[in-house]
Amino acid sequence: MTSEAEQLNDEREERALRIVSSENLSGDIRDRPRLGHSDVVELNFIREGKFLFRRHHRTGLRSHIMEVLRPGDVAAEKEGMIRDGLRWFPRAVPVKMLRIFRTRFSTLRDAEIELTRVKVVGRYLGPEYMARSDEFLVDYEVDGGYEPLLCGLQEYVDGEILDPWGPLDSEYLTTLFRRIGPGGGREEARMWKQNVRKRAEKALERIGRMIREAGLVPDLAGVGNLLMTPGGNMKLVDINNISRVSLENRIPLDDRRYPACDKSIQAFSLLEQKLLQRPVDMGDPVFSTFLDPERMREVQSIEIEFHRSMAPTNSYFQGAH
Ligand SMILES: Nc1ncnc2c1ncn2[C@@H]1O[C@H](COP(=O)(O)OP(=O)(O)O)[C@@H](O)[C@H]1O
Ligand SMILES: [Mg+2]
Repeated sequence: MTSEAEQLNDEREERALRIVSSENLSGDIRDRPRLGHSDVVELNFIREGKFLFRRHHRTGLRSHIMEVLRPGDVAAEKEGMIRDGLRWFPRAVPVKMLRIFRTRFSTLRDAEIELTRVKVVGRYLGPEYMARSDEFLVDYEVDGGYEPLLCGLQEYVDGEILDPWGPLDSEYLTTLFRRIGPGGGREEARMWKQNVRKRAEKALERIGRMIREAGLVPDLAGVGNLLMTPGGNMKLVDINNISRVSLENRIPLDDRRYPACDKSIQAFSLLEQKLLQRPVDMGDPVFSTFLDPERMREVQSIEIEFHRSMAPTNSYFQGAH
């Protein structure tokens, strides 16, 4: 996403959040549009310590993503530092990211299934292609009782959004290279792009194996779920909402009635086509099932319905899940 698009998203979000917060008076953090430091340290399972919690500038629909920061780094960011006689304001880099999953699990077993799936995805992708996270289930004290809540303490990934629905052509990758800023001229950009494609081949091969062997696919469809690192690795940061892949005709919907599995396989096929510059193998039952034109049309109408049902926040949340 361009910075103008991100800014536009921020403005839309501000508006959307104002609407949500005026409607929602619940004390449950899962219903709250945003959290701040004091909200986090008030949670019964968080010990107030030496770190500051700050809402990450990018947001999604399903999780609260909080930066865990050193107070000294935040002070330097605000007040600046003098270097070579000049004042500069270094951005505070998170030590970790705290993820708080908004989804309510009907049973503890459902929460455990989600945890097991995260582990399986982690085994296939490895630390190169997935942001490592220590996921834990806590007893969240709310409204006089306790409920299971899924949280994660995740590695912070420095990078730019790799949007599977974007063009992903050479020009797109050059723009990413310039924005990520590993530095260098034309030749460096060419080598970086070559490396991106080489690494993407490995990452996609692993995802393909996971789909075929384990029958699981992470949410590749949400914009922001994959980041491109300065080193040229595409990395999955959104590790929740993993779908089971079945080759049946029925289109599976997730808890928010979004066709996450179909959209993720579509995103996977686009990444393959555009980054590896080759057509997908339609003889493969996964692609022939999920990329069947009639099925894709049906998925599209379910998706339109999903965005409509998300109103009034739909303008912001489109694509960000
Ligand atoms: N560990 C991380 N490092 C850097 N950015 C992250 C990390 N986790 C999430 N983000 C960013 O925060 C936004 C929301 O995160 P995501 O995991 O997609 O949440 P949701 O479950 O709400 O979709 C995304 O744009 C994502 O790129
Ligand atoms: Mg997401």
